[in-house]
Amino acid sequence: MSLVVTIDGPAGAGKSTVAKRLARRLGYRLLDTGAIYRAVALAGLRAGTALDDEPALALIARDLDIDFAFEGDGDAAVNRVLLGGEDVSAAIRTPEASQAASKVSALPAVRAALLDLQRRLGGKGGVVVEGRDTGTVVFPEAGAKFFLTASDHERARRRMEELGARAGALEDVLGEIRERDARDAGRDVAPMKAAGDAILVDSSTMSLDEVVADLERVVREREQ
Ligand code: DC
Repeated sequence: MSLVVTIDGPAGAGKSTVAKRLARRLGYRLLDTGAIYRAVALAGLRAGTALDDEPALALIARDLDIDFAFEGDGDAAVNRVLLGGEDVSAAIRTPEASQAASKVSALPAVRAALLDLQRRLGGKGGVVVEGRDTGTVVFPEAGAKFFLTASDHERARRRMEELGARAGALEDVLGEIRERDARDAGRDVAPMKAAGDAILVDSSTMSLDEVVADLERVVREREQ
């Protein structure tokens, strides 16, 4: 039986890579809910909407024309994000879009407007969903839930590695991570937290392969 598998946790814990590899090994689809919040933020920025204009942003969320398209194979596979048919995969990942996504995702009306969309995209199962509240709010009945963390220093180090030459100072990256963590975990509605029945995985001292193998083992057991 195919499951809904949720992976929540803070930015930089390795969620995206782990979710992508796990989905591939299980033959499941992948749903990146962060990309949906990022797309709302980008649409808001482009429209010149103030990032605290909750009604306007909720309308943008309600009418969001978002699509995902997989390209390539293996670890090189990219999950392209299409907004109104335009490829915005890079535009939603800038530091500005990241901070904006964190801000708009704190607005209850935006979260409410995106619930149905996420559930629809998740379908009936056979999907790995990654985000912050996918095990607590979006798919409370998920068959396997994971909360993936890593120390903030380790997450900053990985982020620097990912950015390569484009990375700024470690202190800045660490500061940005802490700022986003505080906002994502501190908001009133659907804060980032582990579901009571989620399995906690600290990836600080694990390789991503080890993490994926652990998660796969759990999912396979529960698929029986
Ligand atoms: O996972 P990410 O960094 O792409 O997420 C971008 C922002 O969206 C992040 O600051 C938190 C928010 N988010 C959320 O509130 N709920 C989710 N399920 C996924 C992301």
